[in-house]
Amino acid sequence: MVEPYEIIIRGARLRGYDLSKRYDVAISDGRIAEIKEHIPEHGEREIDAKGRLVVPSFYNMHFHLDSVLTLGDPKFNESGTLWEGIAIWAEYKKRISVEDVLRRVEEFVKWSVVNGVTYIRTHADCTEKTLTGVKALIRARDEFKDLIDIQVTAFPQDGILTEPDNAEYLRKAVEMGADNVGMIPHNEYTREDAVESIKIAFEIAKEFNRDVDGHVDETDDPISRNLEVVAKYTLKYGWVGRVTAGHVTASHSWDPAYRYRILPLIRKAGITIIANPLINIYLQGRFDTYPKRRGMAPIKMYLENGINVTLGHDCVLDPWYPLGTGNMLHALFMAIHVDQMMGWSDLFKALDLITVNAAKAWRKGAEQYGLAKGKRADLLILNALTDVDALRNLEPPLYVIRHGKLIADNTAPERQYKIYYKGKWETIDLNFKKALNK
Ligand code: FE2
Repeated sequence: MVEPYEIIIRGARLRGYDLSKRYDVAISDGRIAEIKEHIPEHGEREIDAKGRLVVPSFYNMHFHLDSVLTLGDPKFNESGTLWEGIAIWAEYKKRISVEDVLRRVEEFVKWSVVNGVTYIRTHADCTEKTLTGVKALIRARDEFKDLIDIQVTAFPQDGILTEPDNAEYLRKAVEMGADNVGMIPHNEYTREDAVESIKIAFEIAKEFNRDVDGHVDETDDPISRNLEVVAKYTLKYGWVGRVTAGHVTASHSWDPAYRYRILPLIRKAGITIIANPLINIYLQGRFDTYPKRRGMAPIKMYLENGINVTLGHDCVLDPWYPLGTGNMLHALFMAIHVDQMMGWSDLFKALDLITVNAAKAWRKGAEQYGLAKGKRADLLILNALTDVDALRNLEPPLYVIRHGKLIADNTAPERQYKIYYKGKWETIDLNFKKALNK
């Protein structure tokens, strides 16, 4: 007798497939076992998608789990600036404990999962001398592994060369088991130190065979040109495809002649740019009066030049960002507005920024990610008919399936929109059906 499939999703629209058709998706052993217009067998669990859109699950590629949910402690950031945020965090981290971090991370991991995010790459501040955040996030990676995949980047928040021991702390954090090596060259005292700090990060990456994941040029200063140095060392150390650069807001302000020279180099080095639209549109441009610059890495420019781009949420309810639920559609929504990526066909590519592009930069298991037979069953059933509806309603998915198991169900009846009209209750569908004929 043939074993039944563990889950069959019935009647779904599938991202990247013919939207005029509905498909059944069978799942067994953590994989997509079959995709067909009709699967005759039964599943142990059957989910009627009612024509809703199935997409692979979302990535949050740049996030600070060690500070998540600390908003207001020891005080609120009233100026809303990066610098006041750093000062508040410096106070908070004096009394950070592993238990405190794990408690906050557990809550946020749950929020992420119900929002369809099953991969988070987090930065762990390793300039805090006890390395408590690093220890806690390495533990969190293991403790919450049934809900989410976590990658930890050792992150020298205060700089690698600004204190005599910081380089050693960075090395120690990687030795303790951090997945990636971080850096923050624009925060070093001089250009020379910035260059040296990048070299140190690459040496540690080489010593421990780790990828590099930097905070790079998170400033409006167009002559903060550390990305070119990161590219140089990527090529020199043979790390092509293994390097991500987060924020890179200075690139918004680059001179066109510099763009012309630098973009082919970034492409050649295979560097992925990680934009953080929510936080950078809020934190950047603070020295401008009016007009104010858009403080976000120019996503469209990078993509048009063959450079991979993905997104992070960066922060939620912490000294730098007072909003957020961990919903990556919010970050994506901001990105496509700020960078004017709402041409009709752009809208159908936008989800790439938090799905396939992210999987490429995450690297581990990237070849098993996607919506095809044999791929890992990390799937979301969205309350949307197309990508356009997902970008309009920004709702958490109806269901989240991870490694072939149903791990979130957001279909409680109170989530339905209903109005009382002409003597009866009516359910309102906010989807835009015309978008099916794209
Ligand atoms: Fe960051």
